[in-house]
Amino acid sequence: MAWRAIDRQTPARDDSDQPLLSEAVKEKIRAFFPRYPTKRAALLPALHIVQETYGHVSHRAMRDVAELLEIPPSQVLDTISFYTHYWTKPRGKKTIVVCRSLSCQLMGADEVIDSVRKHLGVEEHETTADGEYSFVTEECLGTCEHGACMLINEKLHKRVKPEDVPKILADPNNARIDVPRSELYDGVKGEA
Ligand code: FES
Repeated sequence: MAWRAIDRQTPARDDSDQPLLSEAVKEKIRAFFPRYPTKRAALLPALHIVQETYGHVSHRAMRDVAELLEIPPSQVLDTISFYTHYWTKPRGKKTIVVCRSLSCQLMGADEVIDSVRKHLGVEEHETTADGEYSFVTEECLGTCEHGACMLINEKLHKRVKPEDVPKILADPNNARIDVPRSELYDGVKGEA
């Protein structure tokens, strides 16, 4: 397999002199401070909050986070460029994530990835021209027994085959989850 460079480290230009983060967003980030020995340690949740609020983490947002956490902006950029999860450019309405780890690969993830690229006409960390979909691959999504696995926003698609991709993309409800969001992350009530 040939190496392919993906430009996901050149953030969207956003050099505004005005801070981007609202006071409400800063408050959400500050709420994490007591959980950690240093403000710096709250960097990952801070970036999650920024991305969830604004869709991506721009240059300006990185500077605001750095100021809030009292660290150099370069440390924020270092962290963002390490994790594929963070987007430094605006994303489409839906983000497709295909697992690229071993169990899913054995179940045909490479072909699923090719099918998504072909049907969307984009490469990784790119967005379709209509702004509908962005696409990325990530390591294990934690549901290996259902490979090949694909997320559309937070909706998990299991046992995806390359030929399923056009049908999944055509379904307007392909990102809809049918349980309350809290249950996705807090486990089923009553479980030990
Ligand atoms: S290897 Fe794909 S979800 Fe774990």
